[in-house]
Amino acid sequence: MARHWRQGVIGMIPTAKQLFLPADSACPETPTVRDEMEKKFFGFIRLRNGVSKTTEIHRMADVDRAVIAVCARVGLASTSVLDVAVSSGISTCEWLESLQEAGFHPEMTATDLCMHAYLVRLFPGCDALVDREGYPLQFDFCGIALRPWSPRRYYILGNYFWTSCYRALFARIADRLGLFERLRALHGHAPAPDDPVITAKVQLVTRRLRNHKDIELLDDDIFQPTSASLLRRFDVVRAANILNLDYFSAQQLREGVAHLRERLTGPGAFLVIVRTEHDGFNHGSLFRLNENRSFSLLQRVGRGSEIEDMVLTLSAAPAVPAMPAERWCAS
Ligand SMILES: C[S@@+](CC[C@H](N)C(=O)[O-])C[C@H]1O[C@@H](n2cnc3c(N)ncnc32)[C@H](O)[C@@H]1O
Repeated sequence: MARHWRQGVIGMIPTAKQLFLPADSACPETPTVRDEMEKKFFGFIRLRNGVSKTTEIHRMADVDRAVIAVCARVGLASTSVLDVAVSSGISTCEWLESLQEAGFHPEMTATDLCMHAYLVRLFPGCDALVDREGYPLQFDFCGIALRPWSPRRYYILGNYFWTSCYRALFARIADRLGLFERLRALHGHAPAPDDPVITAKVQLVTRRLRNHKDIELLDDDIFQPTSASLLRRFDVVRAANILNLDYFSAQQLREGVAHLRERLTGPGAFLVIVRTEHDGFNHGSLFRLNENRSFSLLQRVGRGSEIEDMVLTLSAAPAVPAMPAERWCAS
C-alpha cells in the first residue's frame, strides 16, 4: 500500500511488475491514482523506433465528438472502428464509451506495435520489461523503475552515461541467459510457468482494456503490409499521435497512410489523423475515402493534421500486397 501510495502521490514511476502482475489487481488505490500511475508508466516507455507510449485520459474528447457528429451527419449506422497505435488504449476505451453513449454499437479493434511484452528476470532483485524481440522497455531494480533511454535534456547531467551502462549490462546478461533465442522460441506465446528467465507475458494496456469484451486487441505495425485479417474491414480508422512529422519521414508517413487506406471498407469510409501538442490541444483532420481511392477533407479539429496535404495528394496506387492473416499473435 505504502509503495503504491508513494508512486501515485510523490511521483515515482511504477514498474511493469507492479502494474501488470496479478497482485496489482488487489491494490487498493482509487481509480484516479491508478490512472495517474498508468500515465507515468506509459510516459516513460519508449520503443525501439523512438516513439514513446505517452498517453492520458480525456486526451481525445474533442476528436471523439467530431467523429460522432460526422457519423451522425452522414447516417453511418453500424460501424466497425479501428484505433491504431493506441498505447495503453485509454483513449480507445473512451472513444468506445462516447460512441455507445451517442447510440452507436461499434465493433472496436485496437492495435499497437507493442501491445504485448515480456517480463524477464535478469538476476535476483533485477527484472526487465522487454518487447517480443528482447528490446528493453524498462528496468526494475529492487522495485525502482529505471528507463533504458535518456531524455535529451538530461544528457548534460550524465544521464546518457548511466543509461548506456544499464543497457550494456543488460545486453551482456541477456546474452548469457540466451534471452533472444528464448523469446524467438516462444513465437509470441506466454512462457511456461517454470521458465527461469521469462517470467510473464503482459498486455501493455490500461487495466480498463484488459479482457475488455467489446475491444479486440492486436499487435500491428502500420508500416508493414496490412494483415489480411484487417483488410477492408473498418468504416472508421483513427491514427492519433503516431503519423507525426517528427517521428517519421514523409515517405514513411505516405506509406503508413496508404496502409491504413487498405483497412477502410471502401468509398465513404473515414480516416482520422490527429496530433496532440504539448499544450494539450488536438489538431487533426477527418478524411473521407472517394470512389477513385483519393481522400477528401470533411472536417478539421484545431488547425487540422500537419500531414493533411500528404493525405489529400496520396497516390491512388494500392499499398504493397497484404500479408497472410496470421501475424505475431492476438491477445
Ligand atoms: C504517443 S503514443 C499514442 C497513443 C494514443 N494513440 C494517443 O494518442 O493517446 C504512440 C503509440 O504508437 C505506437 N507505435 C509506434 N510505432 C508504431 C508502428 N510502427 N505501428 C503501430 N504502432 C506504433 C507506440 O507503441 C505507442 O503506443
